[in-house]
Amino acid sequence: MNIVYASDYDELSQIAAQAIQDYVREHPDGVLGLATGDTPIGTYRELARRHQAGEISLRSVTTFNLDEYYGLPADHPQSYRTYMTEHLFRHVDIDGDRIHIPSGVAADADAHCREYDRKIADAGGIGLQLLGLGGNGHIGFNEPDVELKEGSHLVQLSDETIRANSRNFASVDEVPRQAITVGLGAIFRARKIVMLASGKAKAPIAAQLVRSGVTTQIPATLLKLHPDVTVVLDKEAASGLPEA
Ligand code: GLP
Repeated sequence: MNIVYASDYDELSQIAAQAIQDYVREHPDGVLGLATGDTPIGTYRELARRHQAGEISLRSVTTFNLDEYYGLPADHPQSYRTYMTEHLFRHVDIDGDRIHIPSGVAADADAHCREYDRKIADAGGIGLQLLGLGGNGHIGFNEPDVELKEGSHLVQLSDETIRANSRNFASVDEVPRQAITVGLGAIFRARKIVMLASGKAKAPIAAQLVRSGVTTQIPATLLKLHPDVTVVLDKEAASGLPEA
């Protein structure tokens, strides 16, 4: 696990956008795994800016998002589909047919998950996977547990995640209790992984991630077994690591 220290959120966003730009330049029809949450907003803003400046085209790229709240229709203001449209897709030249986000309203969630995994496999797997870091160490919505799942699945969100994500909803009661997330398999098979953590609130988990051994109770630690992972921490997120 390669750790890169950024001076601030802007620099973190530049580093992540540059990694995506480099990947797309080398693989114009490559496959991006995309994340939501507050952390990658600056990365997407920077990608949109670079696209408008003629520096990057996503025309032939295929994307797979990590997760979606279960119970939210695609056009719900807090759906991850809406998030992606607002923060990235409507600002770039991506082909709508190549965008994939789990459905929050699939009647048969298991069948939907199997189909999502098949689509990822048919696309040749993820080339570059962008990840955020949950306050409890989750990746996608793979929550701490005694066992982690390989395939995409329907997950019960932990109280901690529901509380953390309630900042985007009118009240905690409105946060969906379930989500569909890709599993560790698709994430792990990504050729390259870039994980971002920003802000003081992520300092404790970022320090745990760096110091802890591999444990399913901190799903992000599994990334230590992957051959090509870069973790980008801004100053605040790295503040629990005095050696940084
Ligand atoms: C959310 C998402 C994750 C995200 C993480 C961190 O619940 N499911 O994909 O990476 O939590 O979010 P944030 O970047 O807002 O801290």
